[in-house]
Amino acid sequence: MEPVKSYRSPETEENEMLGSKPSLTALSPLTPGQALWNQREAIADLKDRFKVLSAAVGRTTDLNLYQWAEFAAFALEFRPDLIVELGRGLGNSTCCFIEVAHRLGGAKACRVLSLCLSDDWFKHTVQRLEGVVPSGWFTPGQVEVCNILRYDLRPELSSAGRCLILWDAHGFEIAEWVLCELLPQLVNKSHVVLMHDMSDNRYEISSSDYGEQGIWHGTDETIWMGANASNPSFWLGHISSRVPQAISIIDFTSRNRLPLHSAAESLFAEIISNPARMAELRTLLGDDFFSPQAHWYWFSLNEASRTISFPRATSQGGETMPRKLEPQLQLDESDAQLVQLMQAVKNHLSDQDLIRLIDTVNTYGRELADMPAEKQRLEVFWRDVQDSAGWRLLNRWRTLRSDILPVGTRRRKLYDSVLGPFRGRLSPRGK
Ligand SMILES: C[S@@+](CC[C@H](N)C(=O)[O-])C[C@H]1O[C@@H](n2cnc3c(N)ncnc32)[C@H](O)[C@@H]1O
Repeated sequence: MEPVKSYRSPETEENEMLGSKPSLTALSPLTPGQALWNQREAIADLKDRFKVLSAAVGRTTDLNLYQWAEFAAFALEFRPDLIVELGRGLGNSTCCFIEVAHRLGGAKACRVLSLCLSDDWFKHTVQRLEGVVPSGWFTPGQVEVCNILRYDLRPELSSAGRCLILWDAHGFEIAEWVLCELLPQLVNKSHVVLMHDMSDNRYEISSSDYGEQGIWHGTDETIWMGANASNPSFWLGHISSRVPQAISIIDFTSRNRLPLHSAAESLFAEIISNPARMAELRTLLGDDFFSPQAHWYWFSLNEASRTISFPRATSQGGETMPRKLEPQLQLDESDAQLVQLMQAVKNHLSDQDLIRLIDTVNTYGRELADMPAEKQRLEVFWRDVQDSAGWRLLNRWRTLRSDILPVGTRRRKLYDSVLGPFRGRLSPRGK
């Protein structure tokens, strides 16, 4: 097979020509396209497992199978000993990275620290995974339900050598935390930061028309309902996105002359433009796991050719809370009413209260959806109890007892006083 020259960003080439410090890409050909190519056999091996895990998570709209393949290939190629996931939701990327950790040698070789406000992992996903993964599968993962803005990563980062960060929690507050708190701790460590929900409009967006959309207002309400076609997006240069952190990272990387790499560009340069590679990957991975699309970007401070300037934090670790960032629901009529309602109450509630309110609504919504099935299960159970021989015997005994020990008689009082101490323990109703 003809070797393909690995893609180097114009920024990297410019830095090298200027004789600046070697960059990450100069030191290694780590790019999403090259990683997918190098790891194609490993990904082909993982396909079945990924399908099962993705089905158990049950939310492919949060991460497509081809993105599982791209993330896994990139991580396998980078070989981190710590993966930090910012934003888990139901846990697609969590599962993907735990599987990668196993491939890299298990918990001793690679740990996955997953941080998220949502407890959906414990409420829903774990149960469904338990039926499909071997025992010990969860071991590399440390899954925390927490506010990222208040999480101290220092102990984890200080003991790690190579870190992969997935930045998939949205909003300016998280962006501030990443830029002010997290990145300064990564400067002297090998690391890569992957950013989901950012698209390269040169390769993966077909139309630049506004269509029915208005301008992006910069309000986080738009992303509560997810990367949904009905939400406005913004185009900044070749980056198209709906998530605010895209703006923060363009600003940060531009000021610091840091390359901000598009995964799609690398896929195009290293795979799509090479028909032989294209054909082989299509055959090996199939259309589910191989796509020219990516919708994610990545960067590393290891590529910096000058001292990095970080912004100063202005909000107090979560005092300014992000508004709800759940790109999980499809916008239907009731969602639209919910957005209107939230906009109406926004002036009277703090952001934190609003987040709690939305979480509560989501939780009760899910419980309500499960209720008809639970009612039916209880009815069947109750019928079984009534049909049982024990139940019939108990009813006969009650009738007999009323005949021979009528309520209110001295005999009945004596009987009750003897049995009284046992009733609480034996029967919740004391009958
Ligand atoms: C897009 S979802 C993550 C999807 C996930 N990576 C996957 O592959 O399925 C973003 C998550 O970030 C969480 N999030 C937003 N702000 C957060 C914060 N301040 N702290 C922790 N989690 C937060 C949201 O609750 C949401 O579950």
